[in-house]
Amino acid sequence: MSIPFTGNTSIAHHFLEKFENIVGKEFVLSTAERVADYGSDQTENLHFPPDVVIRPRTAPEISEIMKICFAHKIPVTPRGAGTGLSGGALPQFGGVVISFERMNTILEIDEENLQVTTEPGVITEVLQDTVKAKGLFYPPDPNSRGTCFIGGNIAENSGGPKALKYGVVKDYVLNLEVVLPNGDIIWTGANVLKNATGYNLTQLFVGSEGTLGLVTKIVLKLIPLPKYDLLMLAPFHKLENAGAAVSAIFKAGFTPSALELMEIDSLKIVSRFVDSHAVEVNDGTEAHLIIELDGNHLETLMEEMTSIAELLTAFDCGELLFADDAQQKEALWKLRRRVAEAVKLDGYSIEEDTVVPRAQLPALIRGVRELGEKFSFKAVFYGHAGDGNLHIRIKKAGCQYSLNNPEVIPALTALFELVKSLGGTISAEHGIGLIQKEYMPLVFTETELELMRGIKRLFDPYNILNAGKIFD
Ligand code: LAC
Ligand code: ZN
Repeated sequence: MSIPFTGNTSIAHHFLEKFENIVGKEFVLSTAERVADYGSDQTENLHFPPDVVIRPRTAPEISEIMKICFAHKIPVTPRGAGTGLSGGALPQFGGVVISFERMNTILEIDEENLQVTTEPGVITEVLQDTVKAKGLFYPPDPNSRGTCFIGGNIAENSGGPKALKYGVVKDYVLNLEVVLPNGDIIWTGANVLKNATGYNLTQLFVGSEGTLGLVTKIVLKLIPLPKYDLLMLAPFHKLENAGAAVSAIFKAGFTPSALELMEIDSLKIVSRFVDSHAVEVNDGTEAHLIIELDGNHLETLMEEMTSIAELLTAFDCGELLFADDAQQKEALWKLRRRVAEAVKLDGYSIEEDTVVPRAQLPALIRGVRELGEKFSFKAVFYGHAGDGNLHIRIKKAGCQYSLNNPEVIPALTALFELVKSLGGTISAEHGIGLIQKEYMPLVFTETELELMRGIKRLFDPYNILNAGKIFD
């Protein structure tokens, strides 16, 4: 059974006045020109402008806004920095966008307990740099970390390169303050490292894509900052061999702090895009692995990197490049971090966030190439190979987007069936949002989906909050 949207989709003028009374006139935007930017995120090239954008400063203000929206069944879409890749922040029914951009204060760094309490509109990298200055480490590092908000990372349960060794956002969230769709304000847990007290509401909100409540304060676990890191770039003649080398590294007993894959076309495109010559691209190279180790003992790291380098020779690997200094490391990371935007501009506008058990990477790569022949699309691969999480960007003539697009849906259905057959699933870190929901029945039974819809109904009986995301 689906949950139909049951509310109003246009906002009567007198509501604007009420919203202005709550947050101040200058923080309610309602002209077409001013709301336009809030109608898109980084997903494909979709645009759904809201009727009104509200930029509150506090949880009580959001509570007041939600009470009005709840009473009058006005659709509400929460929005962070708009860097999402599954359409989670797109206001597809118009209505109100609640933007968190003014809730951007880091409230407290507890150096005794290694915790930070923050508002959701803080840029992830700002949070990381602020705790780093105190010798502390918040590892989850989506590649958009220079612009994305920590609140959006909670909504999507984001990952990034460091997830491999250190885990994803869910592994760091201890407690959340949340405004519910009816305006009630709750805390989900306690600021403790272990908690077996009732159902785990904290983890229910992490990754719930803004469909259950609006997160207004976040308590995160921190860890000590490792002292050293080493970075190596390994070229492979065959993409599949790069995939196979990934599981061999773990089987041999190593846990890199990042193990990323870049297929050669993605590297060429991003090198042009950022005008970088950091990597010399040789004919006969199909892919590179970026391998990072971190820790507190430099000699041990060097020994481990040498052992990994020896192991890679069994996979027909070319000449290895060790990054000598911070500048060279930064140059390599820049290529990896900016690849998504570069390949999108190059026409690979449809991005999938596949994940399989890591030993299945070669089968995934092989299978996607076969599907490319069958459905006439070109694919580039890059991503968090160590996690088995490969981003697959697709270019298909005449197709700019996948949403409701009959030209693309059969190819994506076949791709996700392949992923499922390999023991994987359809999103690892970008979420389901708008563009993947069509494929949820491929990985969940109706009974499983109905349990999820039941949770949604409990929190949001009128389906006003980010309606039509995750399921339809
Ligand atoms: C990346 C983003 C797209 O890994 O998740 O580049
Ligand atoms: Zn990624």
